[in-house]
Parts: sequence; structure tokens; C-alpha cells
Amino acid sequence: MAFQDDIKIRSFNYEIDRRRIEDFEQKCEVGTSKRVFLFTDTMGDPICRIRNSPQYKMLVAELDNELVGVIQCSIKIATVGSSIKDQARVAYILGLRVDPCHRRKGIGLSLVNRLEEWFVANHVDFAYMATDKENEASVKLFTDKLGYIKFRTPAILVHPVGVRRIHISPTVEITKLKIEDAEHLYRRFMGSTEFFPDDIDRVLRNKLSLGTWVAYPQGESWIDIKSGQLPTNWTMVSVWNSGDLFKLRVGKAPLSCLMYAKSSRLIDRAFPCLRIPVFPDVFHPFGFYFMYGLHQHGPRSNVLVRSLCRFVHNMAKELEEDCRVIVTEVGRRDTVRLHIPHWKMLSCAEDLWCMKALTKEAQDTLFVLTTQPSMASRALFVDPREV
Ligand SMILES: CC(C)(COP(=O)(O)OP(=O)(O)OC[C@H]1O[C@@H](n2cnc3c(N)ncnc32)[C@H](O)[C@@H]1OP(=O)(O)O)[C@@H](O)C(=O)NCCC(=O)NCCS
Repeated sequence: MAFQDDIKIRSFNYEIDRRRIEDFEQKCEVGTSKRVFLFTDTMGDPICRIRNSPQYKMLVAELDNELVGVIQCSIKIATVGSSIKDQARVAYILGLRVDPCHRRKGIGLSLVNRLEEWFVANHVDFAYMATDKENEASVKLFTDKLGYIKFRTPAILVHPVGVRRIHISPTVEITKLKIEDAEHLYRRFMGSTEFFPDDIDRVLRNKLSLGTWVAYPQGESWIDIKSGQLPTNWTMVSVWNSGDLFKLRVGKAPLSCLMYAKSSRLIDRAFPCLRIPVFPDVFHPFGFYFMYGLHQHGPRSNVLVRSLCRFVHNMAKELEEDCRVIVTEVGRRDTVRLHIPHWKMLSCAEDLWCMKALTKEAQDTLFVLTTQPSMASRALFVDPREV
């Protein structure tokens, strides 16, 4: 208890904390302990991952004026339930880090407790967080100590940006939508999707959002969205340039991965005609595109999903020098997942989302959402601001 009393928790102060948080991040590896460590470079702005959300906060923990822990969160209104009317105030917790020399002393727990006080003061219904299911420290902290419930296990799908363009079928038309048309389609077709953000217009208008594209079969037309005249088969996706916000770097990887990375690049350089899949250079800081709001419509739209993903790949290859991977996150049993090109060795089959109800009504909703089997197979809207 004496140690707990020495810990001071306060809000992030840009002048005092900016530089030391950057150094702090470098010593706090995140990943499945024995295998891959992922480092984040926030390019001088420690709150870059939350500042695009409607409401946000970062807390720091100090011991004798030394930074020993950080945590961030954002609050928004989103669909939680099975209908567009089931909206709630949800808080997303991210970026929890404790100095490796001061772990297991209750600092992580104190930081989350303090955030939850702020959530209650701001009328939050649900708090949730995402972690690697192998991250025992994080899972135990949230489930055993804080009462979070294992909620969903979406898949993070990653595809490298290759050295050459990928062929797209000439029978597929791809068109960029106006923002207001994209908003209209999202509210109409994804409004009741779990975690769909009420301020989708703000997401689409953000400068990091590069646009929304639709794919449909050649010969059909895409003329008047608002009249409801849409092709039988179509697919849509939006793209967020996460690399403009922060960079990632793999700090430690299995030897087999490093060897494949090196040899694939050498072989491709020597024999480009073999067109072997080249492992991306993720060992130096890199950016990525995040595909969000991926939606398919019609019995023959699977091929359209693949074409649209390839289109995004080619765009990344042409426009961004350091965009090494295309990332998306979809519900584990969402069928769209089957048609998204990705590399298994770079992807994560089950990201773990844990959730806690902070009000009595929210507790009842959470009970339904976690006990009805049909709920777990629903699509999920992963907000690019929370990546
Ligand atoms: C996860 C992390 C923030 C925990 O911080 P911490 O200050 O060490 O956690 P606490 O001391 O408050 O631990 C509270 C409880 O969490 C659980 N816990 C924490 N570390 C654990 C570990 N290594 N193994 C198992 N359980 C652990 C325990 O239940 C613990 O209670 P106990 O000590 O009474 O058994 C810290 O390990 C960390 O910074 N990890 C790297 C970054 C990361 O993975 N962040 C999470 C991303 S979501």
C-alpha cells in the first residue's frame, strides 16, 4: 500500500510529457512475449492515436517524478446491440504501458481504475479494450482484476504491399464515392453493425480517410444511390492512412521470419520473373493502410471484395513509399473475411476484445450480447480511429 501511495496519476501534459513518453514507448514492448515485439513511433505526438476521436484522455503515472506508466482512451457513441437504435456511449481503452522495472506493483490496475472514474463522470455505458489473447498480463488484468468480459474475437488480416501491381479483373468497375454518398450507404447498410460509430461522417471527412470506393460488375451502373437504385452485387470499402499518424516496427521476430524476409527479397531481385511473394521490410519503421467499413452485397460479390482489396493494394504501392502492409479487422465469423486477401503468417486469427458494463442497463445488454450465440457471428465495424 505504501508503494501505491507514492504513485502519482495525472492527465497528460504536452509540454512536460511529450518527449519522455516517446522514450518510454521504446522500452515498453507489446506483443506475445516470446515471439514478436511491435514498437510504435508516434512521430512526436503521443496522443495521435486518440486525438481524432470526439472525446479522449491520456493519463500518466509517476514515481519520484519518473514516468512509470501511461494509458489512453477515447469516448464516442456507437451501436451496441442489434439495431441502429441501440446506441450507447462507449469508451475504448488503448496504449496501456507500465515500465518493465515496475510491473506487478499495481500501476496498471490503478491507471485503469482512474480512467473508469472518468468514464462514469462522462456517462459512459460500456468500456472495452483489445489485446492479443496470448498477452497473459493484459488479459488477466482486465478479466480477473477489473471484471471485463471476453466479448469478441475478430481477425486482423494483413497483406503485404508487394513490389508490383496486382491484376484486377477487367469485368469489375471501381468507382470512388462522394463523402455524402458513402455516409448514406454506411448508415443504411451498416448502421446496425456492432460498434458502428454515430459520427461516421466525421470519420469519412477526416484527412486520414483517403476515400470510399465501390466495386460492381461491368455493365451495371452506379448512378443514383439515394433513389435506392443499386446494382444487385456490389462491395464497398474505405481506406485510412494510418502511416500519416504513426509508424510501426517489428523489434524482434522468429529467425524463420527474418530469413524468409531476407531471402525472398534477394531472390526477387535476382529473378523477378519468378514473381515470388516478397516479405515486407517491417524491421524498419513503416506505415500502413487500414481498410474499414468493408461491406459486401449480393450473392456474387465475393469476387468484388477481392478486386477492391487488390485496388487498395495497388493504390498503396503507387502513392505511399513506406506503406508496407494493408490491414483490416473483421468479425471472426463474418463471411466477408473469407474473401479478403491476406498472409496467414502476418495476420492474427483472434484478436481479443473485452468489455465491461458501467451501468445497470448496460449490464443487461452485455449479458444478452455475450450469451446469445447468434450475436457472436455478427459483423463488426472497426473504427479506424481506434487502430
Ligand atoms: C499489461 C501491463 C500493463 C500490466 O501492468 P502492471 O502494472 O504490471 O499490472 P498490475 O501490477 O496492476 O497487475 C494487476 C493484475 O494484473 C494481472 N497481471 C499483471 N501482470 C501479469 C503477468 N505478467 N502475468 C499474469 N498476470 C498478470 C494480475 O492479475 C495482477 O494482479 P496480482 O499482481 O495481484 O496477481 C504490463 O505488463 C505492460 O505494460 N505490458 C506491456 C504492454 C502491454 O502489453 N499492454 C497491454 C496492451 S492492451
